[in-house]
Amino acid sequence: MARNPDSVLSCVDMNGDVLADGVLRYAFRQLLGNNGYVHVVNVPESFDHVEFLKEMGEFQPTPTGTVVGDVKPERGMDDVNHGQNRGGLTPHTEGYEFHGLPPRYLGLWCVNPPAGQGGETTIFDGNRVLTEFTDDERVHLRDTAYRWGSTEGLARHGVRPTAEHPVLEEHDGETIFRFSTNYLVVPDGDDVARRVIDRGNELFAERHIAVRYRRHDLLVWDNWRMLHSRNAFEDPERHLKRVQIAA
Ligand SMILES: [Fe+2]
Repeated sequence: MARNPDSVLSCVDMNGDVLADGVLRYAFRQLLGNNGYVHVVNVPESFDHVEFLKEMGEFQPTPTGTVVGDVKPERGMDDVNHGQNRGGLTPHTEGYEFHGLPPRYLGLWCVNPPAGQGGETTIFDGNRVLTEFTDDERVHLRDTAYRWGSTEGLARHGVRPTAEHPVLEEHDGETIFRFSTNYLVVPDGDDVARRVIDRGNELFAERHIAVRYRRHDLLVWDNWRMLHSRNAFEDPERHLKRVQIAA
């Protein structure tokens, strides 16, 4: 399990004083651009996560219409692959199953950290997967429209999206990487797409960063670049807040 202290940003300085707003925002932007994510720690009680995140862009509602969501285990959902339960998840990017652009950034902050083992958000840089692919293979991933399914958890809420997207998409000079371990429908004989999923999972398992939350911690990542997942946990009181931020 890798850790990258380079992308941990403290809200307070060595004397325990809260950083000036401009300093915090500048450091945050630098780290996000360089490393694809930022884990903000030592976050004071008074910090307004929503206000801070609003400056990054417009919030993009989830399929069920939530803007600032609660990530808490839902009763009766532990038996399916679903964000709102206590199970582990498999690596993915957010929003592959919907039409249009996936959210650019995801922001999670901790209301109540889980007691005991597990519950870390895990992330890994998708660029490190893509470096294993040749230019021709990337063109294939950009020019092929794949079908994407969706989780049983969403289906139980009556949401059954089906979208077609390439794995790689260019938008305003930036690359969007869509990834789903379970729900990318790989056509027979498409060895390149198969290898993206297999190598993505192997590299993720070997080298992911596991973020363990303390109360008020904020985690933000670039969803066009990073894969994410979650370790299973026991504590039903684990509670995070979550926003999606549009491009
Ligand atoms: Fe997710």
